[in-house]
Amino acid sequence: MSSVKVVVIHGPNLNLLGEREPHIYGKKGLDSINTDLTDYATENSIILAVMQSNSEGAIIDFIQENRDAKGIIINPGAYTHTSIAIRDAIASVKIPAVEVHLSNVHAREEFRRHSMIAPVCLGQISGFGANSYLLAMTALINHLREQER
Ligand code: DQA
Repeated sequence: MSSVKVVVIHGPNLNLLGEREPHIYGKKGLDSINTDLTDYATENSIILAVMQSNSEGAIIDFIQENRDAKGIIINPGAYTHTSIAIRDAIASVKIPAVEVHLSNVHAREEFRRHSMIAPVCLGQISGFGANSYLLAMTALINHLREQER
């Protein structure tokens, strides 16, 4: 696969990973997750544009500004369960997206079981801690390779 751009978006409160409820989200910080993702991307000729924001509008702006990207990996945090605006942004740019969660959202409170975002994504990876991001990248790479054929 020739060099392609993929965006990674971390939503609200994920900047506090490592110190935020580590029994649920693990002890690994966001910088470390991003380093692992960047290494994995580089091995696969992918250029990553990574962002974290606590603001819904900033996430939407980032999706729009990067609409030349070939893939999106997004952990929308709590916006997963509420944001029609982020869902519409993903649908608008028509870029294949994978939804990621560190925790298994289906094994937690009832309100986490519903995702506004999932219907506009290729799929959802949930419950594998920091590894969820790498699994999402694998899924996206496989999808892009399939598309190239
Ligand atoms: C989360 C799950 C969401 O329900 C929660 O609001 C988060 C993190 C996860 O990665 O497990 O902020 O997206």
